[in-house]
Amino acid sequence: MLSADNKLFVAHCAKGPIYINGQMANRHGLIAGATGTGKTVTLQVIAETFSQAGVPCFMADMKGDLSGISQAGKMSGFIEKRCPEFGIEDPKFAGNPTRFYDVFGEQGFPMRTTVSAMGPQLLSRILDLNDTQEGVLNILFRIADDSKLLLLDLKDLRMMLDFVGKNADKFTTQYGNISSASVGAIQRSILTLENQGGQQFFGEPAFDVADLLDTENGRGVMNVLVADKLMLQPKLYSTFLLWLITELYARMPEVGDMDLPKLVFFFDEAHTLFEGTSKALVDKIEQVIRLIRSKGVGIYFVTQAPTDLPDNVLGQLGNRVQHALRAYTPKDQKVVRTVADTFRANPEFKTAEVITELATGEALVSFLDEKGAPSVVERAKILFPLSQIGAISDGQRLDIQNAAPARIKEYSAVIDRESAYEILTAQYEAQARAEEKALQKKEKEEAKAAKEKEKAATKKSSKNSKGLNRTILGTLATAAATTFARSLANSAAKTITGGSKKTASSSKKSTSTGKKTASTTKKKTTSSKSGSALQKATKSAANTVTRTITNEVLKSILNGR
Ligand SMILES: Nc1ncnc2c1ncn2[C@@H]1O[C@H](COP(=O)(O)OP(=O)(O)OP(=O)(O)O)[C@@H](O)[C@H]1O
Ligand SMILES: [Mg+2]
Repeated sequence: MLSADNKLFVAHCAKGPIYINGQMANRHGLIAGATGTGKTVTLQVIAETFSQAGVPCFMADMKGDLSGISQAGKMSGFIEKRCPEFGIEDPKFAGNPTRFYDVFGEQGFPMRTTVSAMGPQLLSRILDLNDTQEGVLNILFRIADDSKLLLLDLKDLRMMLDFVGKNADKFTTQYGNISSASVGAIQRSILTLENQGGQQFFGEPAFDVADLLDTENGRGVMNVLVADKLMLQPKLYSTFLLWLITELYARMPEVGDMDLPKLVFFFDEAHTLFEGTSKALVDKIEQVIRLIRSKGVGIYFVTQAPTDLPDNVLGQLGNRVQHALRAYTPKDQKVVRTVADTFRANPEFKTAEVITELATGEALVSFLDEKGAPSVVERAKILFPLSQIGAISDGQRLDIQNAAPARIKEYSAVIDRESAYEILTAQYEAQARAEEKALQKKEKEEAKAAKEKEKAATKKSSKNSKGLNRTILGTLATAAATTFARSLANSAAKTITGGSKKTASSSKKSTSTGKKTASTTKKKTTSSKSGSALQKATKSAANTVTRTITNEVLKSILNGR
């Protein structure tokens, strides 16, 4: 709470009140301690003190218990007992101006960002990509830029990836290698992210970080990100907050030394930021944290053991509140010793011993003095908050949402303007239509060509079969006529030389041979018409000479067809 002389009063030790030095509040801080030792309440106390001083804050609410910051607290036996210790006579319980945000849009206004604002490096982290895949994502962003294709939501990213994959040959020479294996791996990661609710995470209207800087009636607004569901995807959560810090850094102007920070950012479960993070990204985080100070932003990390954070980050956290740590195992004991060594020792107690003895709401406290040097560590009791400890009801949450300014309420709308997905879909559709048209044209032409070919083939085959019939029939007819001629000659000779029964029978035989030949001819010829024509021809051939018979046969076949 603010002291009578407007100091940031947050804890009390044997020597008296402990204040955060406003000018050094942007030199970042750490709230650490085992579970249940009082970290969240400490965060609440520090944040509401800043709010009373007109400094807005941002914090993630992991369990719903931070929502109480919006409501006035009330007197309890515990608080009543501590009031005289703290020198507080009549605590003025009050809630803080609060806005709830929720990436999933369920318990607060949606807080979104666009794929392009997130950038390939942070996106690679969310998508768990290896270096090669990150390289492909970098190329994708450059192609999107060069092709003026906006990447807003995940469907833009998916479509762009599809486009880059399909045209890999073309792009590889200009931008670098794009392997189909990498494209496939990124597609799968995007699918996983979508299943985790990533669709709601990316898109428009994108959150404007300037909205975190609001004040109401002279008090800084508490911007609370509802994160119980989001925490189930720690990488998504931490990368989103990292983006928020990066965005703040990019957007806020440089400021000189100030009496108070412009914004205080609390990063709960801060260890998630560094788990499985590449050295390059840790370096980037370290750099952003170091530089954002000059923009008047203070970042306070909240975690169980300080050793969860990289040394170069830990080294930048000047304002410290260390709650109790457990020392059950040799590993725990080592952590306790390491943490104790980071404090400026107090000759009145052994830091390492005290860390394990601290009660709930009690902590080792060391803030930066006016010269920026850490103060001697003190064993202190953290103040109770003037706002409610613990969660609020759904009805109270709704009232707070309804009271938000119209500008903030606009985040509830969903805008899906033309971007890579829409443009590439239209291109694909146009291409598909053109291909369909070309295909239809080709089919038509092929059908026409086939018809013409068929026609030509029919003509040729009918010509061939006519010729063939003619040849066969001609041969057969000649043979038949020759046989007749021979038998006729024989029978004529016999008749001339004197007829006998034998001769007659022989003539009969010869006729029957002729008949047989005719029937053979009939069998061999496919057309019965041709067959009967042949018979007719054969009969008439019997009365004339061979050549005449042949001509007659051919004539009657041709006439008969
Ligand atoms: N400064 C305080 N003043 C009054 N009560 C406190 C204070 N600190 C802690 N408490 C009490 O201790 C309880 C646990 O504290 P808190 O929720 O802050 O622990 P935590 O370290 O955040 O736990 P976790 O790691 O589980 O989130 C609170 O609900 C509250 O009742
Ligand atoms: Mg907590």
